[in-house]
Amino acid sequence: MPGIPLRNGGPAARIAVIPGDGIGAEVTPQAVKVLKAVAAPARRPLEFVELDWSADKYLRQNVSLPVGAVEMMRDEFDAILFGALGDPRVPSNQHAADILLGLRFKLDLYVNARPVELLDNRLTPLRDRSEKELRLMIFRENTEGLYVGVGGFFKKGTPDEIAVQEDVNSRKGVERIIRYAFEYARQQGVKRVCMSDKSNAMIFAHDLWQRVFKEVRQEYTDIDSRHLYIDTLVMELVRDPSQFDVIVTCNLFGDIISDLGAQLAGGLGLAPSGNIHPGKTSLFEPVHGSAPNLAGKGIANPLGSVLTSAMMLEFLGWKPEAAALRTAVRAALRENYATPDLGGDKHTVEVGDWLATKSAEALAQQHYK
Ligand code: NAD
Ligand code: IPM
Ligand code: MN
Repeated sequence: MPGIPLRNGGPAARIAVIPGDGIGAEVTPQAVKVLKAVAAPARRPLEFVELDWSADKYLRQNVSLPVGAVEMMRDEFDAILFGALGDPRVPSNQHAADILLGLRFKLDLYVNARPVELLDNRLTPLRDRSEKELRLMIFRENTEGLYVGVGGFFKKGTPDEIAVQEDVNSRKGVERIIRYAFEYARQQGVKRVCMSDKSNAMIFAHDLWQRVFKEVRQEYTDIDSRHLYIDTLVMELVRDPSQFDVIVTCNLFGDIISDLGAQLAGGLGLAPSGNIHPGKTSLFEPVHGSAPNLAGKGIANPLGSVLTSAMMLEFLGWKPEAAALRTAVRAALRENYATPDLGGDKHTVEVGDWLATKSAEALAQQHYK
């Protein structure tokens, strides 16, 4: 999805690669291979540094996010390419919370950009919907809300147990993501922004979202803005997704609707995302998780990670290379050179190899034009 703000990188771009757990460790090397294939003929080098932060490391060394990791990311890398974290051997998901949420919060990656784009008509489960009717951007607030981990147990393990999880929303946090959504719409030349909350029930946290939205929208009278409660939004997304260009919502709702959006556009195997702070080190990951049911079978779809890499290249200012990756992904879909989740019979590595070749070809074609 174009329009991702640039990182003003140096002469070379340095990427930290965190493949993580399960299929994260299978799809990420494919994306790196594809990135290397387009970096080779490029203007400046892409440098990759792989980090083994994962459930394995957590279980072996009791290390999740290492000491100094945030500073290292901030100072030494332009972007992070992330796979997925989550392992049945860590039922608490502690390492994922420390690493993924830790990086989102500590790098202040307040924009979670999750584009929903139908790349091939036959991929949507919706009847009679075409590519141009399903192209929208979800902006998920990424540093606050129910994710901050404020709360606790009282009388844990007893029949009287109480569990509290606070929904933390700051004026600054709500305003910057809503403003970002409007700025993005303006920059992209799209007309419609929809803010979604549950202010009819969440009368404090989402009252703040309401008030901020009403205030900010007045500065963007060129944009057609509206509000939908989240329950209505999910219904409308299925009924008629063509009515949306940009959706902005809180952390938890954004998590949920981005999986819905992914499925509308062909499934989790295809969905990319960027965790962004404009101008600062940002983290790019497919929307899917570690899918333990698929791990080790060699059939995970790498396209989500490759489209994620295209988002990362745009953020780095590598537009032709990003376009080459997208061209290759479209070709794979058209020719059904795909993994079983998309009805194909190819393995993860086969698709990765094919995309690397096609991406390099697509880049060369652009140079001849
Ligand atoms: P999931 O996204 O891992 O998988 C859900 C289902 O989607 C899978 O069973 C599979 O059928 C399908 N799928 C997902 N990615 C695919 C791909 N690339 N190719 C083909 N099919 C794919 O969600 P889950 O099963 O709810 O979670 C599994 C673990 O992943 C949990 O530990 C969860 O916390 C974690 N998780 C991590 C991230 C992340 O690190 N960003 C995101 C979501 C879930
Ligand atoms: C995602 C994931 C994460 C989230 C989990 C793993 C904490 O589902 O990136 O969508 O909820 O943000
Ligand atoms: Mn999710």
